[in-house]
Amino acid sequence: MALVGVMRPGHAQIRVLDLEEGIHFYRDVLGLVETGRDTQGRVYFKCWDERDHNSLIIRQADRAGIDFFAFKVLDKATLDKLDADLRAYGLKTERIPAGDLLETGERVRFEIPSGHLIELYADKTCVGNGLDMVNPRPWNANSERGIAPIRFDHGLLYGPNIAAVQKIFTEVLGFFLVERVLTPDGKGNVAIWLSCSHKVHDIAFVEHAEPGKLHHCSFLLESWEEVLRAGDIMSMNKVPIDIGPTRHGITRGCTIYAWDPSGNRFETYMGGYQPYPDYQTLTWTFDELGPGLDYPQRKLHETFLTVVS
Ligand SMILES: [Fe+2]
Repeated sequence: MALVGVMRPGHAQIRVLDLEEGIHFYRDVLGLVETGRDTQGRVYFKCWDERDHNSLIIRQADRAGIDFFAFKVLDKATLDKLDADLRAYGLKTERIPAGDLLETGERVRFEIPSGHLIELYADKTCVGNGLDMVNPRPWNANSERGIAPIRFDHGLLYGPNIAAVQKIFTEVLGFFLVERVLTPDGKGNVAIWLSCSHKVHDIAFVEHAEPGKLHHCSFLLESWEEVLRAGDIMSMNKVPIDIGPTRHGITRGCTIYAWDPSGNRFETYMGGYQPYPDYQTLTWTFDELGPGLDYPQRKLHETFLTVVS
């Protein structure tokens, strides 16, 4: 498949209660690479194997949570077309000028019915991953500090009206529905996993009364052993773990969920499978949500279902 249109998650901006504590956590414990700070006091990070300048931005605020979640699109023409398509669909869009985020081009921002701000952009400065472009080594020193995920992989957002959100992502932005969990009456979806690529999900949503909430940002590791090593590093640093290490039934991801010092949940994960756009959506019934969430224990975890930031 040629990847056109929306390519992948690009960046998320999240709020932390104490900036220095946040920097220490994301740089030294999670092991992201700090790439810049701006005049608004925001701090920029990327995963070591990502080439674009930033994928996670943190800023200090009075409450934790997510400001916006962005996708990188193929090019400027695609950005303009998707902006026009979103407006034709009836959504209001806003253009954020290039340079508002460090080393990032113009962004198209819009609010979806779950109360989240979603952005599209085409340009972000390539700073490389520290490896040569000719005859590269497989890893470098940045890949050894902290948990050191290779990429910002996906997000799970909680908010209302996910049926309307699904229509926007599938009918305007070119995503396809990979998996879903039915409502107890079986007539709608309580959770959806959407892909714009060959990944099992690029973004997911859970129906939730309060708008605009963050469930987690997810960071990809290369093996189950690295997920277990991430658990060791979390314990060494007394990072509070929500669930795991375990495997989801939904998406087959092998995972640990934990909280940053401000109460934003994050995930370190590996696995899943690789669907193409002709993949027939998998359905989970509400009564099997336990194994969908935690396959070995077949168990619902109250905090996972209710705690968001
Ligand atoms: Fe996840």
